[in-house]
Amino acid sequence: MNQHGKEIEALTLKINKARRNLREGTREWKEKTGSPYIDYALRLENKHLDGCVLLPDRLELLKLLPKKALCCEVGTDQGRFARQIIKSCFPKELVIVDISFERFEYDEFREVDVQGAAKTYEMDSVECLSSFPERYFDWIYIDGDHSYEGAKRDLNIAMNKVKNEGYIVCNDYTTWSVSSMTKCGVARAVNEFCLNFNWKFVYFALQGNMYYDVAIKRLY
Ligand SMILES: C[S@@+](CC[C@H](N)C(=O)[O-])C[C@H]1O[C@@H](n2cnc3c(N)ncnc32)[C@H](O)[C@@H]1O
Repeated sequence: MNQHGKEIEALTLKINKARRNLREGTREWKEKTGSPYIDYALRLENKHLDGCVLLPDRLELLKLLPKKALCCEVGTDQGRFARQIIKSCFPKELVIVDISFERFEYDEFREVDVQGAAKTYEMDSVECLSSFPERYFDWIYIDGDHSYEGAKRDLNIAMNKVKNEGYIVCNDYTTWSVSSMTKCGVARAVNEFCLNFNWKFVYFALQGNMYYDVAIKRLY
């Protein structure tokens, strides 16, 4: 075996050891706590999925959301998706909230937001959304705290802040993040929310690493 082959073999061993540790750890977690380490997403009923449109990615989803609308992005990081929102949806107002704007790419953002539709809020998402009137937004894109509790918190406040026909879109609808190797509570929070408050899936966008997006609205 050449040097490259040896290095690949060593890496494979390293990854397999980490995988075994993870499997062992999560098994012990369940034994100790009585509940699974990874947040399980409850089964939805057909009525929550009927008519849901499957899309290749979240940019296609953006194309289907209301244009020239009042909208919000919860969690923006560098602001790259916020730029996509402006380019695709021409919002009347785009509220961008994040607990930190340290990484936000202001120059690139200003080049795109020539109409000045966006307002940035450096604060906690729930605190920010609470300050808006009930049923204010046409849609809210949630991509902030991905823990189960965090996603649930955002969904509960967003529900009161979108119009009756409004959408909530959740990014990272999954149970496990393959890049950070951490659990993700979004799928559990979304399914529970749809079951408890009678919401349905309208659009479901795929992503190559299973960081799906789901758009939901009220089921009447
Ligand atoms: C995955 S990044 C967002 C990425 C962005 N939406 C995109 O698609 O390019 C998640 C962001 O959520 C922010 N965040 C986490 N918890 C938050 C909270 N409670 N309130 C507001 N922002 C939060 C983080 O600071 C981070 O910038």
